[in-house]
Amino acid sequence: MTSPIPMIPLSLSRPTIWTVRRSMSQTASVTTNGTAKSRDLSTSADDLYQLGQRHVTNGLGRLTEGIMVKGQGSYVEYEGGRKLLDFTSGIGVTSLGHCHPKVSQAAAEQCLTLVHAQCSIAFHKPYLQLVERLLPVVPHPSLDSFFFWNSGSEAVEAAIKLARVATGRQHIICMQGGYHGRTYGAMAVTKSKTIYSEGVFPIMPGVFSIPYPYWHQHGLPPATPTSTLVSQSLYQLELLLTQQTAPRDTAAIIIEPLLGEGGYVPAPPEFLKGLRDVCDKHGILLIIDEVQSGFARTGKYFMIEYSGVRPDILVIAKGLANGFPLSGVVSRKELTDKLKPGTMGGTYAGNAVSCAAAVAVADVFQEENILGNVQARSVELFDALNALRKDSAVSPYILDVRGTGLMVAVEFTSPNGPGAQFDPVSDSNSPKSLASRIVKKCIENGLLILTTSAYEVIRFIPALNITQEDLKKGADIFAESVRSVVKEG
Ligand SMILES: Cc1ncc(COP(=O)(O)O)c(C=O)c1O
Repeated sequence: MTSPIPMIPLSLSRPTIWTVRRSMSQTASVTTNGTAKSRDLSTSADDLYQLGQRHVTNGLGRLTEGIMVKGQGSYVEYEGGRKLLDFTSGIGVTSLGHCHPKVSQAAAEQCLTLVHAQCSIAFHKPYLQLVERLLPVVPHPSLDSFFFWNSGSEAVEAAIKLARVATGRQHIICMQGGYHGRTYGAMAVTKSKTIYSEGVFPIMPGVFSIPYPYWHQHGLPPATPTSTLVSQSLYQLELLLTQQTAPRDTAAIIIEPLLGEGGYVPAPPEFLKGLRDVCDKHGILLIIDEVQSGFARTGKYFMIEYSGVRPDILVIAKGLANGFPLSGVVSRKELTDKLKPGTMGGTYAGNAVSCAAAVAVADVFQEENILGNVQARSVELFDALNALRKDSAVSPYILDVRGTGLMVAVEFTSPNGPGAQFDPVSDSNSPKSLASRIVKKCIENGLLILTTSAYEVIRFIPALNITQEDLKKGADIFAESVRSVVKEG
């Protein structure tokens, strides 16, 4: 099945004056210098799509054609009626499904009560109620001081700022393969792909990186024992602190406990414990970025709980408010008390509607046993993917099935991945671009799903309250699409 809305030919993409066709065949001229002569809200979907093609920045990539008009539970609908089963959750955001009635209702009620109580002017109730809801679920009781922002990137930058102020040191150590956002500070600690910072240097200085304990990052085969990956990464950290950034200059280490944009790789608990030990030894702060892995995504409220490691600073966003823009930085009062009033803040930070939605999310988590559903559906998803892996028609092309909870990935072989000549995983017999071709096939077959990382990886991030039936349906579409693409060669 193809999209009802065709792609626009490139030759039409940059006219100086174009015509909006109104419904009822009326027309109105609009110039591209922003002086629209008239505005018609009944512009047809086809024309709106063309407007988007011409006037929305080329800097945005887009997975699908058409206009998404509706989301309900695990499904999204496009203009023209096409429905897709959504295994992307808006990149790990709509964890309770699209438009969860209790969350949308809470936001709607807040819209009619108080939309914007600027955080530097006064407290508002949903902000404080959210703190009240989060205090019992944060991964360590020492995390008792909150600041809410809008996006994950902003929260990452606020965490770095806090670490620098609290320690009086400047340098930040991050992970090769890590992703923390696209703004200047967040981009500086993002090491998953060069596309995010290409051509825009200088970015924030004082950043160093070590390889994540993922076999690709060390140029080792997938069968490498976890203990070897952990000791290699910790060894690189020791070298870094000896040869490049002295501990007394190092403010923080930032890490995703489950690598997201870098390939959906869980950090072994021993590695996280090793980082904690190094931080404790040198007075370095440990920043745990749970923007993607937090809020029950992995079957616990936070991925870091599996290791028992205490974060000094926790960064949260995405699933926190089920689609309303909200992020947060959680730390110890002892550290945040070092910030002078006014050093944190932002016009929309901790918006009342977003906070009201997040309070409802927290309540639904309790009422609907979301953690239980994640754990049950996770077992089913792994069973389905591991069964596919055993299928002799496709098994030579599946390198790995990994992840935790409902943050799961399948990695495929590649003839020409990064550093192919040195990477023992590179397979010259493999079909090219398997991940993106399988994603395309899945979309044709009714399943919205995403790739991730610089390698051939497809990620599964369905809603955390997905039904057994929809999970099976998605896993079946995926399996059928993999078989079909592999057969094409
Ligand atoms: C782990 C992690 N940190 C930070 C970010 C940046 O968040 P945002 O896109 O909201 O700025 C992301 C986004 O995908 C992420 O996955």
